[in-house]
Amino acid sequence: MSGFKSFAVAGAGDIGRFILEELVRHVTGGSVTNVVALTRSSIGYDDLKAQGIVFKTVDYSDPASLVTALQDIDVVISAISGGALLAQIPLADAAKAAGVKHFVLSEYGNRSDGKTYGIFAVKNRVREHLLSLDLPHSQFFTGPVSDWFFDGRPEWGFDLPNGKAVVGGSGNVPISWTSSPDIARYMVYVLTHVSPTEQRNKPFAIEGERKTINQILEEYQARSGRKLEVTYESKEFLEKQVKEHPHDYENGLIRLLHLEWERGEGQTGTPEEVNKYWPDFKPAKVVDVMLSL
Ligand SMILES: NC(=O)c1ccc[n+]([C@@H]2O[C@H](COP(=O)([O-])OP(=O)(O)OC[C@H]3O[C@@H](n4cnc5c(N)ncnc54)[C@H](OP(=O)(O)O)[C@@H]3O)[C@@H](O)[C@H]2O)c1
Repeated sequence: MSGFKSFAVAGAGDIGRFILEELVRHVTGGSVTNVVALTRSSIGYDDLKAQGIVFKTVDYSDPASLVTALQDIDVVISAISGGALLAQIPLADAAKAAGVKHFVLSEYGNRSDGKTYGIFAVKNRVREHLLSLDLPHSQFFTGPVSDWFFDGRPEWGFDLPNGKAVVGGSGNVPISWTSSPDIARYMVYVLTHVSPTEQRNKPFAIEGERKTINQILEEYQARSGRKLEVTYESKEFLEKQVKEHPHDYENGLIRLLHLEWERGEGQTGTPEEVNKYWPDFKPAKVVDVMLSL
């Protein structure tokens, strides 16, 4: 066991909510004693509060509010949105000041290690800051989140409710897909079972299932009986768009991600590396997740 028992999750959004609920499930068995959510406004969240999660209102520009909220916390798990990742810098400073033992960075996507462009540059800047503070930390790389991507997100390429998909590249490159509940289950398992020394400054690779987009869309159509209109954007087109418009959302974020998938960077690790720290982990298959939405 890690000895980490008291947790604070920053942000109770799409991913944070699943992590909070998974932490609460461990309270009965005693491996988790304390679950705190840090939010800028704690109005609402009645379903989470009813589960025993303590909401603390913080202001990321007010260090004292963060330090006070983090008293007696062993681990801070950041689930702050992709557009606000720099808020992790004051959060990390406060965690260090409050005596927090471990910090999980907001990642939950493709591997960011060593990348110096786009959102990855921001993620690595935050990680450098944690290193400078000598605050032990970890990252969980998950690939695309299956229940998030296929839940009607036309701007990201998948519009299943309207029977459409736009595939970036060939669609023939294997990608690691992981569901939000499985991200939360694997992360909480690692945080509560693996020794702090082994977790220190470590990237963890999760994978629900490794499949190409074409395999997924084919299986989905066969099992659902629904026909999709599938169109493709070539790798050359993606490269051109990303190069010419690196700072807009559509190209600098969405098409860049599709390009990464086409380059094989949607795989979180080798088959031996993924899910390595929980041999009995049984994650959901991607098309099962799609059919459950
Ligand atoms: N790989 C994938 O497919 C995938 C999919 C989704 C997300 N992700 C990743 O998962 C992480 C979390 O994303 P998410 O979708 O869960 O985020 P989200 O729901 O959009 O936001 C999470 C929380 O971030 C906080 N936040 C927003 N703006 C902030 C600001 N300016 N300062 C401080 N806090 C702010 C908000 O908390 P309060 O307002 O309560 O303070 C919000 O609830 C990100 O790193 C994202 O890139 C990956």
